[in-house]
Amino acid sequence: MTLAFKPYLREISLDPKAQIDYDRYPFSIPAVRELGVMTLHRDVTFFVGENGAGKSTVLEAIAVAMGLPAEGGNRNVYRQQQEVSPLHGYLKLVKGFRQPRASYFLRAESLFNVFSYLDEIKVGPGSGAGLHRRSHGEAFMDLMLNFREDGLYLLDEPEAALSPSRQLAALTVMHQLVQEGSQFIIATHSPILLSYPNAKILCFDESGIMEVAYADTEHYAVTRDFLNNHERRLQQLLVDEDAD
Ligand SMILES: Nc1ncnc2c1ncn2[C@@H]1O[C@H](COP(=O)(O)OP(=O)(O)OP(=O)(O)O)[C@@H](O)[C@H]1O
Ligand SMILES: [Mg+2]
Repeated sequence: MTLAFKPYLREISLDPKAQIDYDRYPFSIPAVRELGVMTLHRDVTFFVGENGAGKSTVLEAIAVAMGLPAEGGNRNVYRQQQEVSPLHGYLKLVKGFRQPRASYFLRAESLFNVFSYLDEIKVGPGSGAGLHRRSHGEAFMDLMLNFREDGLYLLDEPEAALSPSRQLAALTVMHQLVQEGSQFIIATHSPILLSYPNAKILCFDESGIMEVAYADTEHYAVTRDFLNNHERRLQQLLVDEDAD
């Protein structure tokens, strides 16, 4: 085990010296405005919260500030940068004393492009394996199985690619990597992934960012309630117009 080197990224905050216009995107997002000092878990930090709460914006800014491409991928991906929020330029990062041996930013929307590119240049995790000829979930699992120890991995909604069984498998792979010295930061809506115990869950909402316990997340509560009462909940949700 090589746990002594973690975390690679300890803290992020808005640079107190920066001139910030809080009326404009991305600083107008409550979670960004109230970012304060975000302390990251040495193993896994989850970002949760409603759609539009700012999770991807913050994750992308961390990735770019760490030298990763905004489009996603590893440091070998040199592509035309897509439109990126200016947040990365305003972040103060407190890093660990050692650099990760590998790093990767998975950006849900551009996975296909990055896989094609990595196939093309045959460099980096999963490259040259015909990733773009695999299904979304197969390619993602190939990629994750090629993640190296002592890495820093930033993943935006990895569950988008994964069946429930593969999400369980992803927990196993993530645990292995964590034990081998890797750190993850993951934006997710998956109650399965969120169950990972060596983790900190940060909830983004209108008031800012707050740490929550797994069982107190909306993901856990709503999924559990729905699965336990799905017939009743469906009756409440699906009201037929012609029903008297
Ligand atoms: N270029 C932009 N200009 C202005 N507003 C933007 C821009 N890009 C994103 N936003 C807004 O910023 C907010 C945060 O978006 P973000 O993608 O970070 O949310 P999220 O928490 O990742 O949501 P989801 O769970 O749906 O992925 C949203 O309200 C979005 O509409
Ligand atoms: Mg998002």
